[in-house]
Amino acid sequence: MKLNQSSTPLLDTLLKHAQNKITSFHTPGHKNGASIIPKLKNFTKQNVYYLDVTVFPEVDSLHDPTHCIKLSQELMAKAYNSKHSIFLVNGSSVGNISMLMSVCDPGDSVILSRVCHKSVLAGIILSSVWPIWLQPKVDQKLDLIYDVSSEEIEKAIESYPEAKAVFITSPNYNGITTDLIKIAEVCKRYNKILMVDEAHGPHLKFHPDLPVSASEVGADIYVHSAHKVLSALSQGSVLNINSNQIDINRVKKIVSMLQTTSPNYFILASIDAARMQVVKYGYKILGNLISYCNKAREEINKLENMFSLTRQGIQNKYNDLDLTKITVNVTKTGLTGYEVEDILAKDYNIQVDCADMFNLIAITGIGTTKKDINKLVEALKDISKKYVGQHQTWKLVLPQLSTEMAMLPRDAFFSHNTKRIPLSKSVGYISAQTLTPYPPGLPILTPGERITKDTVEYLLDLISFTVRISGQESDKLKTVKVIK
Ligand SMILES: Cc1ncc(COP(=O)(O)O)c(C=O)c1O
Repeated sequence: MKLNQSSTPLLDTLLKHAQNKITSFHTPGHKNGASIIPKLKNFTKQNVYYLDVTVFPEVDSLHDPTHCIKLSQELMAKAYNSKHSIFLVNGSSVGNISMLMSVCDPGDSVILSRVCHKSVLAGIILSSVWPIWLQPKVDQKLDLIYDVSSEEIEKAIESYPEAKAVFITSPNYNGITTDLIKIAEVCKRYNKILMVDEAHGPHLKFHPDLPVSASEVGADIYVHSAHKVLSALSQGSVLNINSNQIDINRVKKIVSMLQTTSPNYFILASIDAARMQVVKYGYKILGNLISYCNKAREEINKLENMFSLTRQGIQNKYNDLDLTKITVNVTKTGLTGYEVEDILAKDYNIQVDCADMFNLIAITGIGTTKKDINKLVEALKDISKKYVGQHQTWKLVLPQLSTEMAMLPRDAFFSHNTKRIPLSKSVGYISAQTLTPYPPGLPILTPGERITKDTVEYLLDLISFTVRISGQESDKLKTVKVIK
């Protein structure tokens, strides 16, 4: 059957059902919004609740799709030239976990760097694999951390020929992509499965001025957060599978085990709509968006106290920039990125996606307008005039993170044979926990790895700054959980 990318089979089915205003004797309990309290319903109005249905034949089943969801997934797969697409209602987080659990058997090993989302570590634990950690690159001029290059991947494959797969995160939060073309070539040459967390890149394929995408280099399996850049609702993501080396039935079963049996149909229909929109109109919308963002970078780079990451600034033989991301370095304002984020929210009614010690990250999307971008630029101009100084500098450095894995992360994480000891006395022990300081925002300690002097000194140094450390089980990072 010819697939028509202008169609939205799932959205149409859901809207048709909602228009019938049928009497509901199914979950959810709000019964088409009847019981939603006025404070909420006065804001949302009632129609939206007719879209919140459960699984019944008319609207198809996410876990066993036979008509409109099946067709909508097929359209998605076609849009990305993949063999299969599976809709996710728990974001790319569940996609990352599913990728690792589907591709790897317990005891397999995977090559990857620490520049990865926390769900990747969850996937490593749940799939019972050995991570082969590679050292990420630190760019101290730009205060940014990049994923590894194809050359380092190749070296790692040669050192660990038993590795089953390579896991890459590209683009990162700042929109920096890695050299996927070469990495895909290396993986093909050595017969390794290439998994890509492309949560931030579902739009890349749809404009030639954007970096190359996982789909275009023939990655075996990759995940997209359709909600991050496209217009799907939050949690709407897609897992794409494009490989004969991966058992699609295993992938389907694993995704099914990890997802709710009560998926939100509004989210599912929004994924369908987002696909149609980006395929049909993405070139034009993204072209405009890129030109607004380029202009914004130009304006920001005229300011005394701020600068914005440009393609020329990072483009080298490994990395490229997604031009729809605006990263602004604010160190010369005398403020941290967190403080400027706060000022933008309180004084200018602008909320950016995130900040770090040095930078603000403004994520634009298919819905961003020229007016929005102008508002951000004007606010930054104003802040740049008001604040000048030198804030306490914290040099972006990393300890050596290619550590020895002494135990499977899963075994260390679930072990009861643990104790808490002072961090300062933990060198040589096996970690039973994850510690992720912000900055730099990547896991410095992971379960199963042998704790090194370098890591301990690094963490102790961070404690002297006001650094938030995620994963700590007590208030202050004085102790760490290790295997006895
Ligand atoms: C690189 C990366 N991968 C995966 C995720 C998880 O995506 P989701 O929020 O769709 O679960 C995020 C979330 O921020 C991310 O930044």
